[in-house]
Amino acid sequence: MIEIIAAFARWSQLTANLILFGSCVFFAIIGQQRTVFESPWVIRLERGLPGMAGVILLGLVGILATTTSEATANIANFWNPAAWLEVVLQTQIGHIWVARALLACMLFGVILFFQHIRRERWHYFSCAVVASLPLIAGTLMSHTSADEMSFKAVAPYALHILLAGVWFGALPAFLFILYSNHNEPGIPSNVATLNYLKKFSAVALPVMLLLVVTGLIVTDRLVETFYHTLVSSSYGWLLIGKLSFLAIILVIAYQVRNKWLPMLTDGDTQQNSESVIHLKKWVGIEFILALLLILLATILANTLPAKHTLIENWPYPFRFSINATWDEPNVQEMVWSGVVLFFVALGTVWLGAKNNWNRMKRILVPGLLGISSMAIALPPLTIEAYPETYLKPTVPFDTISISNGFRLFSEHCVNCHGPQGKGTGAVVDPEVRDPTDLLTGQHTAKYTVGNVFHQLSQGIPGTKMPGFAASLTEEDRWDLINFLQAL
Ligand code: HEC
Repeated sequence: MIEIIAAFARWSQLTANLILFGSCVFFAIIGQQRTVFESPWVIRLERGLPGMAGVILLGLVGILATTTSEATANIANFWNPAAWLEVVLQTQIGHIWVARALLACMLFGVILFFQHIRRERWHYFSCAVVASLPLIAGTLMSHTSADEMSFKAVAPYALHILLAGVWFGALPAFLFILYSNHNEPGIPSNVATLNYLKKFSAVALPVMLLLVVTGLIVTDRLVETFYHTLVSSSYGWLLIGKLSFLAIILVIAYQVRNKWLPMLTDGDTQQNSESVIHLKKWVGIEFILALLLILLATILANTLPAKHTLIENWPYPFRFSINATWDEPNVQEMVWSGVVLFFVALGTVWLGAKNNWNRMKRILVPGLLGISSMAIALPPLTIEAYPETYLKPTVPFDTISISNGFRLFSEHCVNCHGPQGKGTGAVVDPEVRDPTDLLTGQHTAKYTVGNVFHQLSQGIPGTKMPGFAASLTEEDRWDLINFLQAL
């Protein structure tokens, strides 16, 4: 329950702040002539802005309440201002919260003040700057900055959020224009207002691109090389969900930009009102999807980052590893054939657009080729995996553990693996390794400590290697592995 309230509080305050910021940026972009600010849709949108600032403040209170009850592990502290105060005074998160709250109050004040004076373009610039501050302060509370609070660590994430604001925050303005200008069918569209839409659309493209780039940088920091966590941790699944929403949104944005917006200038009233109907529908859907995307993003920002997630139970019987498979026979040939086929599939996308294939063919041909390319390239890169494959030793690598491992090894393993783990079989052919030799194989990419733990616990089916899950404790088994690593 607390988690749901926490997610809702974070989401509502972020959404409100992004809309405030994005609307101001939008007004600043289109406000070359002051008359813009007297149009009814601007006035109507502006009336909502103080409410948005209020939502930010309320959301912040919700965040403080839920953070306090989570940090103190006591539900009663959810509504206990004395406990809030303690968090505010004594923790770093509390200090950042105070900064956010002060900045949000300042934003509230500035917006109220601007409501009472005659509108100028620079008002919106300054309002956008003030609205960006609580957003930037909010990024300090995230996992990206938890590791290291430096400009380099925080800047890409802050930029990512601000870019999201420029794009997403302007969507309400976009919708207000569409709905204000075309309430009555048959009335010719106001060319000046439609130009605003085009101006925004021109800005939105580079913003989207930068949004993706900064997103990649932030994600890379949180995933590092732990790509397997993307399909086995809640962080990974949330990220995949977020990207799926983004993919749909990009398709809609592409249609809006290349199909419905260009139709607006043709001067044909019939065509105009038709494209406005489409625009209303699709930009509306885009906005709702964006709201959901931001919900996923706020949950994601508060989920343990991929690189810190321990995968205790790998759900697949295989894993991908280029290092472990690359030198196996035929692997390189297969992978490169797949890559070539993939580019052929991309080529058919272009070909289909150029030759005006029908929709069915346009999806089917590249789709089938793309799937085949993966079916050829990916399986050779897989290697067997076990639920334990990504386990990490729970026992530190120290002398106590290693000497205990040595003792256990002498008791349980020496007979088959030799006193130094060098194996007991006669070396007939130097090219062929003695399977009981524990020294030469263990350090290749095929092995993870988790895999060795699996073999040690379950044994190796079809060989003499027994499993020790029943006779040795987990700790003992890790001691043995530490000992083998030390050899
Ligand atoms: C009854 C004999 C026997 C005993 C006892 C035994 N092993 Fe093994 N072990 C084997 C054999 C045989 C293999 C090779 C299996 C194969 O053909 O891949 C093996 C393989 C292994 C491997 C995988 C090596 C590789 O390169 O794939 C590990 C690790 C291992 N044993 C660890 C141990 C440890 C640690 C102990 C003591 C707790 C132990 N074994 C006890 C017979 C034994």
